[in-house]
Amino acid sequence: MQAVTFEQLGGPEALRLREIDEPQLRANQVLVRVQAVAVDHVDTFVRSGAFQTALATPHVVGRDLVGTVLRVAAGVTNFAVGDLVWTNSAGYDGRMGATAEMVAVAADRLYPVPCGVDARQLVAAVHSAATAAIVLQDVMQLTRGQAILIEGAAGNVGRKFIQLAHQLGAVVTTTSAARDFDRCRQLGSELTLDYHEPVASQCDRQFDHIIDTSGKVPLQANLAALNQGGQVTLITAPADNHFTFDVRQFYMAQKQISGFVISHATDDQLARAAKWLNPQFAAGALLEDDLNCQPFAAAAEVHAALEQGRDHHQRFVLVPPTEKI
Ligand SMILES: NC(=O)c1ccc[n+]([C@@H]2O[C@H](COP(=O)([O-])OP(=O)(O)OC[C@H]3O[C@@H](n4cnc5c(N)ncnc54)[C@H](OP(=O)(O)O)[C@@H]3O)[C@@H](O)[C@H]2O)c1
Repeated sequence: MQAVTFEQLGGPEALRLREIDEPQLRANQVLVRVQAVAVDHVDTFVRSGAFQTALATPHVVGRDLVGTVLRVAAGVTNFAVGDLVWTNSAGYDGRMGATAEMVAVAADRLYPVPCGVDARQLVAAVHSAATAAIVLQDVMQLTRGQAILIEGAAGNVGRKFIQLAHQLGAVVTTTSAARDFDRCRQLGSELTLDYHEPVASQCDRQFDHIIDTSGKVPLQANLAALNQGGQVTLITAPADNHFTFDVRQFYMAQKQISGFVISHATDDQLARAAKWLNPQFAAGALLEDDLNCQPFAAAAEVHAALEQGRDHHQRFVLVPPTEKI
């Protein structure tokens, strides 16, 4: 079967579409015929080695896939041949990657695609939506009425944060370019601010939680905008990988900084996120990404485009040779 692999960590050119053996099904696994694979920033980090993790051999790139069940191993009772399924945790921590015609996935990391949901639109959404779901539920433990500031809110991850935080009953403030104000409002933002100006110069709100998806807002500015006991959650880093902040002001107001990376989410966290997300997908929410579908053979080009910021606000989705673009 065909798969996109890399032999050594390196640049996008390390990716090759080549013939590899079909996966051997182990206990509690499900063999999936892949229909589409999303390309995430983190796939480029795994390929380059910026995110260090155990890799299965051969190294098949990618973590989010959608496809149909071909076979189930002994012990699997929750899936049957022909089911449409998705996962968002292939390709790292010793697991086989997603960008192959067939992938063996642990049954407890696989979730059903709700009836009537577009498979490509779903696979494009699962990484950012699951990140937002786990951060809101488990890291922030956001509750109804709390004030949250979402910076970079018109981006892939930001849009998912708006919708899910709004659904939890939080009071949502967002920053984005002015051209995206309407979109942010439609998704659930109560107050839209322009990221070109500091938040403090545009409103006098203080927040219980702040998430910056751009990595471009100085940490000190966000810490200063927190209520006493408030929390900043980091999911990305500034380009130079460094922040400075006023330490006394920070601890005397009992503020918190949390880091999160979905690669370390537990099976249980991923499953709870999927349980929250699937009814949203079924209702047509969280599926607003603008897709750019390409063949598996374009994987190297797509990684380069994502790394160089040439995604033009689109989500790249790769489809195997057997599927129409
Ligand atoms: N830790 C994790 O588990 C995890 C999971 C998923 C993603 N991530 C990370 O999250 C980050 C965002 O991913 P994404 O796919 O959402 O990217 P994205 O779609 O490019 O979103 C980034 C957003 O930031 C906005 N922005 C640019 N400059 C800004 C500024 N100075 N202040 C505030 N916002 C600004 C951009 O606006 P314009 O469109 O106007 O430029 C864009 O809407 C990436 O670094 C990714 O690696 C981490």
